[in-house]
Amino acid sequence: MRSVELKIEDVAFGGKGVARDNGKAVFIPYSIEGERVAARIVREKKSFAEAELIDVVEASADRVAPECPYFGRCGGCSYQHISYEHQLELKARQVEQAMRRIGRMSEPPMRPIIPSPLPYAYRNRITVHAEDNVVGFYRRDVHTLMDIGRCPIATPEVNDALVQLRAGRVCDGHYSLRAHSGPRVFAQTNDEVAEALADLIAGILPGQGTLLIDAFCGAGFFTKRLAHQFGRVVGIDWDRFAIEAAQKDAGVNEAYVAGDVTTELRWLLQQSELTSTALIVDPPATGLSAETRRAILDSPPATMIYVSCNPPTLARDIAELQQPFAVLSITPLDMFPQTAEIECVVHLQRRREAETLRAD
Ligand SMILES: C[S@@+](CC[C@H](N)C(=O)[O-])C[C@H]1O[C@@H](n2cnc3c(N)ncnc32)[C@H](O)[C@@H]1O
Repeated sequence: MRSVELKIEDVAFGGKGVARDNGKAVFIPYSIEGERVAARIVREKKSFAEAELIDVVEASADRVAPECPYFGRCGGCSYQHISYEHQLELKARQVEQAMRRIGRMSEPPMRPIIPSPLPYAYRNRITVHAEDNVVGFYRRDVHTLMDIGRCPIATPEVNDALVQLRAGRVCDGHYSLRAHSGPRVFAQTNDEVAEALADLIAGILPGQGTLLIDAFCGAGFFTKRLAHQFGRVVGIDWDRFAIEAAQKDAGVNEAYVAGDVTTELRWLLQQSELTSTALIVDPPATGLSAETRRAILDSPPATMIYVSCNPPTLARDIAELQQPFAVLSITPLDMFPQTAEIECVVHLQRRREAETLRAD
């Protein structure tokens, strides 16, 4: 495979630097825009190529030493070589670019990115794998396990659990190590940023509305914090263990439905007084299904909050939702420092309410 020396122009969502080789885009991991790097092309397609970094010829001022000895081999982190300040700038820019290119917005109303108070030691759970006495994570390039003694992005409690696991005889399998006990259902990964996320949404949503629908509610992380702001709150999730956990300490105005958002949400919206209804959606990385988008477009509530962990699918969905909704703000949050993942909150308001507000 041929070697090249290239100038990095940008860092794309996913974490790879982007350079041009005779006009063709070349993606190079562990590089930063502005750097000159030596790289080896390992995969060449008609419209783009993938390369491995050989050497940094001219380093960026934002390049720092990674904290983790496994960085570059482990598949988990992509950005430990970049100063935390610059990681935040990159992620905010990537969200804005997705909104422009995929979301078809000319001026996305971006709010400043919310940083993580802890750039390391924030993950409250990890899943490690065990095979033939090797305990750790899969390598990024091949499907082989790396033995991992400590993960610096995990909390001290999680690392203690890893030490304990490794101290005994470990049978082959997957092990979920958690800082908190509780039901084995979806939970936010970074406690401090999760609180900031909940506060952000509580601040956006109008006080004392009639109905809040929390689609993809999990165990009710948002629903429970917001219940006092609404006459009635309804959470929907197809994980019945999460719904059981949410129902356990539910207040009188909280209801939880175990079911598929695609069908339950259409029905709920059709039954609701949409002018005083707010909807939160927090789907998995695949975003909203076409049927869910259709259900929202057919019966748009006055206010909608879209929480996303994947800017491209978020932008795809927002492009469609802009027909009945105005996008009032887009706030990225750094839930996952050192990794390429980005959390994002978009505040939408039905156009007729947004126009009334503007006229007042
Ligand atoms: C990103 S998590 C959000 C959980 C919750 N909002 C929280 O903050 O804890 C996505 C949730 O969507 C649920 N889910 C995914 N697809 C679904 C579907 N089609 N219908 C219902 N629930 C779904 C999963 O079970 C998971 O709990």
